[in-house]
Amino acid sequence: MRKTTQAAVIGTAAAALLVSSFTLSASAAPEHSGSHGKPKPPAADTLGGLGLRADLRIGTAVDMAALAADAPYRAKAAGEFTSVTPENVMKWEVVEKERGTYDWAAADELVDFARANGQLVRGHTLLWHNQLPAWLTEGDFSAGELRAILRKHITDEAGHFKGRIWQWDVVNEAFNDDGTLRDSIWLRKLGPGYIADAFRWARQADPKAKLFINDYNIEGVNAKSTALHDLVVELRKQHVPIDGVGIQGHLSVQYNAPHDIADNMKRFDDLGLETAITEADVRVPMPSDSTKQEAQAEGYDVLLRGCLLTRRCTDFTVWGFTDKYSWVPGTFEGEGAANLFDENYAAKPAYKALTQDLLLAAGRD
Ligand code: G3I
Repeated sequence: MRKTTQAAVIGTAAAALLVSSFTLSASAAPEHSGSHGKPKPPAADTLGGLGLRADLRIGTAVDMAALAADAPYRAKAAGEFTSVTPENVMKWEVVEKERGTYDWAAADELVDFARANGQLVRGHTLLWHNQLPAWLTEGDFSAGELRAILRKHITDEAGHFKGRIWQWDVVNEAFNDDGTLRDSIWLRKLGPGYIADAFRWARQADPKAKLFINDYNIEGVNAKSTALHDLVVELRKQHVPIDGVGIQGHLSVQYNAPHDIADNMKRFDDLGLETAITEADVRVPMPSDSTKQEAQAEGYDVLLRGCLLTRRCTDFTVWGFTDKYSWVPGTFEGEGAANLFDENYAAKPAYKALTQDLLLAAGRD
């Protein structure tokens, strides 16, 4: 939980002064200790450093290919953020491409990177309808077999990373936008009880990790976020071990920003649940320009303020930080430039908007 009362008080003028230096420092990430010695704390003028003062982790999804090949990417991932999420390498199709043969190499590498840099890890994700191995989607399994396969997967993966994961996205994207449960292999064969089972198995495998349900289009109050809220109420009644709700935050400047996000997050907070913004990005129709970048900054700002206004919001994670590597252009034709930094790692207005929000939050009583 964020302990805002401990934060130092900083006046708006001092905040503005600090912010003006960010444009200079943004492209020069501090050097971290790497795998030698104790990790250094994040520099005070990074998102991660400012976030700690506001009692909030600021994270990023990490693309392991970029981490290996691109030194500026690596420096920024190490220096700017206080938590990381594997963009792909903990997904089922990666960790168990062949049935019964696990490959944890890339995921272990990220966990080691995080430890070397003093970062926490959000595990993503134990159960999803997407990025499943072909042996699973193409196999003809009975309900009993599929349930055993799922149980084994969750037990083995959460068990492998036991003690090294801060928050697990146990169940990802289980809902349709109208609030009904998604027609997935899991729902079709196992029925809606698969969600409660997944949380119970995850808790057994790693009792200390915080267990989240995660979804998109649940930023504001709508049919989907309400259905998810109702499900969580029901799960809690049944003593299912669920700790938090992850709000992905994939926005587009072409739609209104979710200005009611704090109202929505409060509903979960009132249940005693943690919340997090887990995959923030704000795409724009290409080519981008300064007007679109300002609109983009507003989107990021709305998401972060939702979190800052919510007592148990623990972290704000961006889904990648540079336009150099982004899932957006491959999925939304004609859209892109969704991240805080451009392809050359120059900070955009959205970066400044986040730093200003964090400075104000760090300075409040
Ligand atoms: O696995 C192949 C790899 O072998 C090959 O070398 C490569 C060449 O293009 O393609 C690889 O797979 C791609 C994978 O990313 C790894 O790069 C897939 O085609 C591609 O579809 C996949 O996209 C990922 C997407 O999830 C899949 O749905 C994105 O990188 C990733 O950012 C995205 O992340 C999701 C979250 O997990 C859940 N919420 C939505 C978010 C955005 O879609």
